[in-house]
Amino acid sequence: MYIKELQLTNFRNYVRETLEFQPGIYVIQGNNGQGKSNLLEAIYSLCFGRSFRNFQENDLVRWNAPYYYLQGSVCLQQRLYRLEMGYETQKKRKVVKIDGKTGKSLGLDQKCPLVCFIPEDLELIRRGPAERRRFMDREISQLSPLYRKHLNRYNRIVSQKNRALKEIYHLKNREELFKVWNNQLVYFGSRIIQKRSLVVADWSEMSAQNYEMLFPEGPRLRMDYDTFCSPDVARDKIEQLEAAFSDKIELMAKEEQRRGYSLLGPHRDDLLFLLDDKEARRYASHGQQRSAIIALKAAQLQLYQQQKEEPVFMLDDIFSELDLRRRQECFALLRDAGQVFLTITEKDSGLGSFLQQFTFPSFFLQVHKGRVAKKERIK
Ligand SMILES: Nc1ncnc2c1ncn2[C@@H]1O[C@H](COP(=O)(O)OP(=O)(O)O)[C@@H](O)[C@H]1O
Ligand SMILES: [Mg+2]
Repeated sequence: MYIKELQLTNFRNYVRETLEFQPGIYVIQGNNGQGKSNLLEAIYSLCFGRSFRNFQENDLVRWNAPYYYLQGSVCLQQRLYRLEMGYETQKKRKVVKIDGKTGKSLGLDQKCPLVCFIPEDLELIRRGPAERRRFMDREISQLSPLYRKHLNRYNRIVSQKNRALKEIYHLKNREELFKVWNNQLVYFGSRIIQKRSLVVADWSEMSAQNYEMLFPEGPRLRMDYDTFCSPDVARDKIEQLEAAFSDKIELMAKEEQRRGYSLLGPHRDDLLFLLDDKEARRYASHGQQRSAIIALKAAQLQLYQQQKEEPVFMLDDIFSELDLRRRQECFALLRDAGQVFLTITEKDSGLGSFLQQFTFPSFFLQVHKGRVAKKERIK
């Protein structure tokens, strides 16, 4: 996949900007607050019909402007798609179009191979389980619209059930209600657990290979999806998984009522990173943790590539976060993308020498006050 054209109107701090791209590396430079991330956000939003930063549509509209409008074209599976997206503040009206037809975003319609790498990702291992669940959900939703549907249903039921658990005394026929909810939690939850387990297994295998390339002397990286049942049941045996879920959730009924929230299911699970079978969160150095994430990001790119489509790779502020060694690791994986957008603040960041290693074209964009002030080809 690659982005071919992008036009922003009243999007964030851009009044109007039109850009053309081709496969290759785009280095986007500018001081803080000039609009680098906004540009990446525009690309992402156009592909997926929503912001990667979990913002409301209102936030995307340039301050005091009545609407924003994005349009562009994307080449995917050798086909060119014209994409549009817009939002009118007053009417609260959002429109997403592909080839002039209103409806789904490209990312909902098909597998849209775009991988984002943001500084928060680098801290994924250190952060809490909720962040890691959010990470899985974000990435897997992108791979599977069905997963996103199941997840939305599941989350809605969990919050209904939690509300009821807190207000238990006002509820009539609560036993029945809990039974209905639990059945649904088991149904959707099992499918979420299964999908996460399968994807994490793929990530784990690829990430391990990447990590070994970076550190042949070890330790060995592995990732596990941590849930209430064994990995093989979680991955391949949906009936057994449902049965185990159903049994356990019944056993927990008392405890859930006592504690006032729902205690079992994918909303309590975790994604584990292990180095030589020891939890990286506790035992690995900060540098090792970051390398593990780089290996994972590479794995995500490679998995897209295996499906015969070169992914788009967006790195927002990653380079300023990394030391030289890890910059090199990171650069090694740019090869697995067809088009790269990376943002930096320093003009002379030593990127030039890195870029020499590549055969594909590289470009420099300078962003200043919501405008692309300069655009030149580096190579
Ligand atoms: N809806 C909006 N309308 C106008 N300006 C906005 C809007 N949202 C964010 N901004 C501005 O965009 C700038 C941040 O842009 P960003 O792309 O995050 O910067 P950076 O170049 O550091 O990545 C800030 O100056 C902020 O005030
Ligand atoms: Mg930024």
